[in-house]
Amino acid sequence: MRWIIDTDAGIDDAIGLGLPFAPGLAPTHILLAVTTVSGNVHVAQVNVNVGAVLDVLEAPTPIYSGCDRPMIEPRVHAEDFHGPDGLGGAGLSKTTRRPEREHAALAISRLARQHRGALGLIALGPLTNVALACNLDPELPHHIARLIVMGGAWQARGNQTSAAEFNFAVDPESAHVVFERFSNVIMVPWEVSLDQMMPFELFERIRAGATPRARFFAAMTRIVYDWRDQFGFTGVPLPDPLAVAVALDEGVIARAVQARVKVDIGHSVGRALSSLDYRHPQPNAQVVVQVHADVAWQMIERAWTQ
Ligand code: BDR
Ligand code: CA
Repeated sequence: MRWIIDTDAGIDDAIGLGLPFAPGLAPTHILLAVTTVSGNVHVAQVNVNVGAVLDVLEAPTPIYSGCDRPMIEPRVHAEDFHGPDGLGGAGLSKTTRRPEREHAALAISRLARQHRGALGLIALGPLTNVALACNLDPELPHHIARLIVMGGAWQARGNQTSAAEFNFAVDPESAHVVFERFSNVIMVPWEVSLDQMMPFELFERIRAGATPRARFFAAMTRIVYDWRDQFGFTGVPLPDPLAVAVALDEGVIARAVQARVKVDIGHSVGRALSSLDYRHPQPNAQVVVQVHADVAWQMIERAWTQ
């Protein structure tokens, strides 16, 4: 499978970007492109962060810069969580790479046509680029073989509002568009990463690695101890790496439920809530509610310590 990762990198995005480069992964998995979107930080900063991550991974993957704001809402970022630069404020955000000239949404549409039926898209940020690509190219959902979305909160345990997860809350209209157009989204909601956190013992083992990748991992994740102190986390929630692991190895899925996911674009307390209609005759998503975390952790450790 050829892959595009659409990202608002972000610390956990950055960790997820490493997984296609984990040793031992089937050589049939090829990361064709990284597309960037406004989310955790401004898209210009996301471009730099992705460049820095691809540098340490020694990956020649092209970067396509995307939407610099949500479809309707004003920009919302998460610097308080991911650090002022989105990579933990550790001075890692340096690269000489520049994005390609083509817009991310156009690149998604072009690559999906070129690799029709053999391209998977992994969306780790607000769905602005994906929704725009759907509107530019109504055939897009037919060209993309698999769409994996990290986003939503299947039990309405929101992390941005009381009911909504960050990626959906930042751009609810785009999330709505994507779930209306695609008929079989693999959705990895926030709660999975909350219920199945990476144990600190393993996290610290990766951080203690001596390779350039492990040192990069250690530097960008120092801020995770602030999360532990602030939110009382008993481990490290890693939503984006779990979504990438699910994409690269479906065996990571322990339990999924089929439903029609509808994203609330109203203006009440439920805005951006992802509701699951289990009785709908046309389900549009497999919602991953439990993972074989050990398999994902191994992939992460291999990717970031080699
Ligand atoms: C999502 O929000 C972002 O901060 C993370 O990178 C992840 O994609 C989790 O709600
Ligand atoms: Ca993200």
